[in-house]
Amino acid sequence: MSKRLASMADWIDARFPMTSTWKAHLTEYYAPKNFNFWYYFGSLAVLVLVNQLLTGIFLTMNYKPDASMAFASVEYIMRDVDFGWLIRYMHSTGASMFFVVVYLHMFRGMMYGSYRKPRELLWLIGMGIFFVLMMLAFTGYILPWGQMSYWGAQVIVSMIGAIPVIGETLSNWILGDFMLSDAALNRFFAYHVVTLPVLLVALVFIHIVALHEVGSSNPDGIEIKAIKDPVTHIPLDGIPFHPYYTVKDIFGVVVFLIIFCGIIFFMPEMGGYFLEYNNFIPANTLQTPDHIAPVWYFTPYYSMLRAVTVNFLWVDAKIWGIVLMGGSVAIFALLPWLDRSPVKSIRYKGPYFKIALTLFVISVFVLGWLGTQSPTPLYTLLAQIFTVIYFAFFVLMPWYSKIDKTRPEPTRVTG
Ligand code: HEM
Repeated sequence: MSKRLASMADWIDARFPMTSTWKAHLTEYYAPKNFNFWYYFGSLAVLVLVNQLLTGIFLTMNYKPDASMAFASVEYIMRDVDFGWLIRYMHSTGASMFFVVVYLHMFRGMMYGSYRKPRELLWLIGMGIFFVLMMLAFTGYILPWGQMSYWGAQVIVSMIGAIPVIGETLSNWILGDFMLSDAALNRFFAYHVVTLPVLLVALVFIHIVALHEVGSSNPDGIEIKAIKDPVTHIPLDGIPFHPYYTVKDIFGVVVFLIIFCGIIFFMPEMGGYFLEYNNFIPANTLQTPDHIAPVWYFTPYYSMLRAVTVNFLWVDAKIWGIVLMGGSVAIFALLPWLDRSPVKSIRYKGPYFKIALTLFVISVFVLGWLGTQSPTPLYTLLAQIFTVIYFAFFVLMPWYSKIDKTRPEPTRVTG
């Protein structure tokens, strides 16, 4: 039997690089031996991606992208389709968990300087993934055509309309109508189920190709490829990805699935954070909900959008809000060039970086919470203060990362 399998493998290898790919990317791909907790989230993001693609296919079989039927078709999935409720909750919970794992994945990058040379392009591809992921979440949230789907999208569309000169034409072109309607629902459905998933899968593929070209960084922030065994040319601080990290990642997957199932079976709405209560009411184009807030993963940016209250340089406050909101996401792309520290990892960075990163994390949480609340003068002031702190982390980085007191990096990984 094994002889037969071996000859079959030989047959394939003569026509397709199966064994050599397996070796190059798994059994003979050497990853640093000191990966810790923070290195689970890349593989978990792949898992959530697969979950979204599979559950999405089944949802599409019963969903109707029609403004008069969309809401009812989702209710039909929840009540009448066999295990439809499970598929839908796996998809809606998956959307939030996607952001949980991707935010932790990005935070790991910020802690250990994963964006620094030679991983700048890897980081930029990650930014592309992040952008597509946001578009996917936005277009997906419109599909149930509930009150929040409709009015949430309305807020974004009115932002496009506010762009000087071309705004109105652009918004009509995007919507295919003068207002948010069936035409827009149809095209957002097309983007959500075809265009954006294809783009995301392609970007994830090149993300991993780029990663395997430069190799993973690690909590010490040193390059393991620099010290190799003179005879075998294997990095001395590396271990084969398979079986060591496949087994480690399977442990992460099991823990993740326990949490994931806990949410799906016991709190799929997550107190209104994963699925907003207003979205269980069909879209009513004539009645704005009392309180419009996006889903939790967008609330920090939403807070910054609302933080600008005064016109400045003859430009409307709303436009500045849009610029700030876009800037708050785009600025992550500059990190590889803003960080001037001689070391990569937080382990060897000084107090300035640690304080700046802590303040940044606090600002994200505060802005995130403020984005879920109705604005009051006090909340708007807080949003303005924390927006300044958020941007200060990036804008002042060239300065504080240069003068910070760092410790020298070790030459070999420490564990
Ligand atoms: C669908 C979303 C994503 C998937 C499936 C994904 C997948 C992965 C995987 C499997 C790894 C290797 C394992 C690990 O280091 O954890 C990795 C590494 C990396 N990812 Fe992602 N990623 C995603 C999003 C992002 C985003 C949004 C960014 C940043 C903007 C990013 C930046 C990086 C960087 C810099 C590394 C190298 C880390 C290091 O070597 O220290 N990724 N990614």
